Amino acid sequence: MANYTTVENAKIGILMGSASDWPTMKRASDTLDSFGVAHECNALSAHRNAGILQKYLIDAEKRGISLFICAAGGAAHLAGVVAAHTAKPVLGCPMQAWSLDGLDSLLSTVQMPKGMPVATFAIGGAGAMNAALFAIQMLSMSDSDLSARFLAFRKEQAETVTSLD
Ligand code: RP5
Repeated sequence: MANYTTVENAKIGILMGSASDWPTMKRASDTLDSFGVAHECNALSAHRNAGILQKYLIDAEKRGISLFICAAGGAAHLAGVVAAHTAKPVLGCPMQAWSLDGLDSLLSTVQMPKGMPVATFAIGGAGAMNAALFAIQMLSMSDSDLSARFLAFRKEQAETVTSLD
């Protein structure tokens, strides 16, 4: 039977529609790790693991997860389904799955009907990393140490653009 993994004091839950999304979503996890942000990663499909997904979301909220980053490809419903089960912010990452270069995933994730927002990021690895950075920005609003680390990252990133070494 499908199950899920929890991490003590995790603030962010990364969810994927399939383990096949992990090579892309590892970028989000690695980014959170680099800022020291506790998070947990699980592959739970909105279609194929609907029951366990619902259980996970109830449990995750009770344990203090503040927001969810959801990745899916194709008819990418995961972020929308998660948004339906939680009042926490949901960040959607469209995966470049098996067809249409991920445009199907992008449109499925971004075109939420009014009243049920999913903040949607770019297709693939850039979106995965940006979702993690955006989550860090949100947590930074009430965490001055994390905010300082984020500002240091931005400074360092700016310097890499202009350096020709
Ligand atoms: C989606 O279908 C997943 O998020 C994945 O991007 C895609 C393919 O899934 P698998 O067939 O690899 O399990 O649900």
